[in-house]
Amino acid sequence: MVKGKYLPKDEVLLQHPILVFVFLVLGFIVMDPFELSPVGGHDFRPVKNDIASYEEVMGNWPKDNHSRLARGDKVFVDEVFGPESLEFDIHGRGPYAGLADGRIVRWMGQDGGGWETFAFVSRNWSNEICAKGVNSTTYKQWKFEKQCGRPLGLRFDKSSGDLYIADAYFGVLVVGPKGGYATPLATNVAGKPILFANDLDIHHNGSVFFTDSSKRYDRVNHFFIMLEGEATGRLLRYDPPTKTTHVVLDGLAFPNGVQFSRDHSFLLYTETTNCRLMKYWLEGPKNGTSEIMANLPGFPDNVRINEKGEFWVAIDCCRTRAQEVLINNPWMRSVYFRLPVHMRYLAKWVGMKMYSVVSRFNEKGEILDVLEDRKGAVMKLVSEVREEKGKLWIGTVAHNHIATLALESLL
Ligand SMILES: *[C@@H]1O[C@H](CO)[C@@H](O)[C@H](O)[C@H]1NC(C)=O
Ligand SMILES: *[C@@H]1O[C@H](CO)[C@@H](O)[C@H](O)[C@H]1NC(C)=O
Ligand SMILES: *[C@@H]1O[C@H](CO)[C@@H](O)[C@H](O)[C@H]1NC(C)=O
Ligand SMILES: *[C@@H]1O[C@H](CO)[C@@H](O)[C@H](O)[C@H]1NC(C)=O
Ligand SMILES: *[C@@H]1O[C@H](CO)[C@@H](O)[C@H](O)[C@H]1NC(C)=O
Repeated sequence: MVKGKYLPKDEVLLQHPILVFVFLVLGFIVMDPFELSPVGGHDFRPVKNDIASYEEVMGNWPKDNHSRLARGDKVFVDEVFGPESLEFDIHGRGPYAGLADGRIVRWMGQDGGGWETFAFVSRNWSNEICAKGVNSTTYKQWKFEKQCGRPLGLRFDKSSGDLYIADAYFGVLVVGPKGGYATPLATNVAGKPILFANDLDIHHNGSVFFTDSSKRYDRVNHFFIMLEGEATGRLLRYDPPTKTTHVVLDGLAFPNGVQFSRDHSFLLYTETTNCRLMKYWLEGPKNGTSEIMANLPGFPDNVRINEKGEFWVAIDCCRTRAQEVLINNPWMRSVYFRLPVHMRYLAKWVGMKMYSVVSRFNEKGEILDVLEDRKGAVMKLVSEVREEKGKLWIGTVAHNHIATLALESLL
C-alpha cells in the first residue's frame, strides 16, 4: 500500500508543522476572551482517548470502490424528521421511527393513511411547541427537546408487542401496541437522573439493556462528549420484575448503539468517541467482561442484527491523520477548539469530510461487507441500518428522510 494514499490533500495542517505552531500560538494569544469559540463558556476538559491507531485501522479497512451505498433511494423526503431508529412491529407493519419533534410515527402504507403519529414520550408534547416539521432537525428545536422528547432507540418486545423506547431526555419508556403516551420505566440510576439514554435492546428474560451516553452532557451538547473524549457513559440494565435500574458498565466513551447476539450470549455496543464496536459477554467463561469486537474507520451509531445473526453498523466517516494528532494530545484540543472560529472550519481543517459507511460483521467481528457513499449522494449521516423485507432501511438523526437500498442491487 502506498502510504500517501490515505492522506487526503486537505489535511494541510499535518503537512505543515509550522502552520500548526502558528495556529497554536494564535490560540494561546486569543484564549477566547469573548467566548466566540465553539467551546466558549463551557468547562471544557479534554482527555486522552482509548482509541486504536489511525494506521492500524485505516490501513486494513476495505474500500467500497463502487460506492454502492449511493445506489439507495431517498424516501419519505420531508415527511419524517431525523428518524434515528427504525423498527417493524410483530405484524410486519412499519417502519416506526422516532423523530426530532419528539413523536414516534409509523408508516401504514400508501392506502392505509401514510404516516401516522403512534406515540409520545412526553405528556407535555404540544403541536404549537414541538411540531416544527423540517426545522426540528435544526438548532431551532434544541431548547424544546427537553419538553418534547427525542426518541432515539426503538425496539418491539416480540412476545407482548410493546414498544420500548430509549429517549435522550426521558430515559427508557414503554408503550402498548396501540400507542399513545409512553410510560417511563427507567429515569434514574444510583439516585441520579439518567442524562442521555440513547439505545436499547431487550434480553429474553425481559431485562432491558440500554446506553446512557454521558453523565456530563445531554443530547444537544453531544458534540462536547466527542471533543473532550470524556468517558462517563454507561451501559445500564432495567429489570422489570423489581422495577430497578442497575449499572452494568461505567466509564465508556460515548456508548451509543446496543444489540444482543442471536443467542443472547453477548451483546454489542458502540463507543462512538473511541470509534469501536465492543462485545460484552453475558454467558460462558468470559461472562461479565468486555472486549473490542472491531475498530472502525469513523464514529459508529446504532448496531442492528439481521436474520442470519450478522450485524449492520452505521458509521459516520472518517478518521483523519490530523484528527489523530488532536486525539492523542488533549492540550492541543484545548487550544484548537478555543480558536474563535466556527466549528465548521475547525472540523474542515482537520480533514473531517463526513460521509457514510455501513458495515456488516459476523459474530467474530470479521468484516463481511462495506458500503460507502463517498459523495454523500444518498446519506450524509447514518444512524441505523435495519435489514428487513429484502432491503436495508437506513435512518439518520440529522436529515429529513429515510434511505432504502434493495439488497439485490448490491450483487
Ligand atoms: C478497490 O480498489 C483498490 C485499488 O484502487 C484495490 O486495491 C482494492 O482491492 C479494491 N477493493 C475491492 C473491494 O475491490
Ligand atoms: C421553518 O423555518 C422557516 C424559516 O424560519 C419558516 O419559514 C417555516 O415556516 C418553518 N417551518 C415550520 C414547519 O415550522
Ligand atoms: C410538564 O409540564 C408541567 C406543568 O407545566 C411541569 O411541571 C413539568 O415539569 C413539565 N415536564 C416536562 C418534562 O417538561
Ligand atoms: C436477565 O439476564 C441478565 C444477564 O444475565 C441478568 O443480568 C438480569 O438480572 C436478568 N434479569 C432477570 C429479570 O432475571
Ligand atoms: C453472568 O454474570 C452475572 C453477574 O455479572 C450473573 O448475574 C449471571 O447469572 C451470569 N450468567 C451466567 C449464565 O453465568
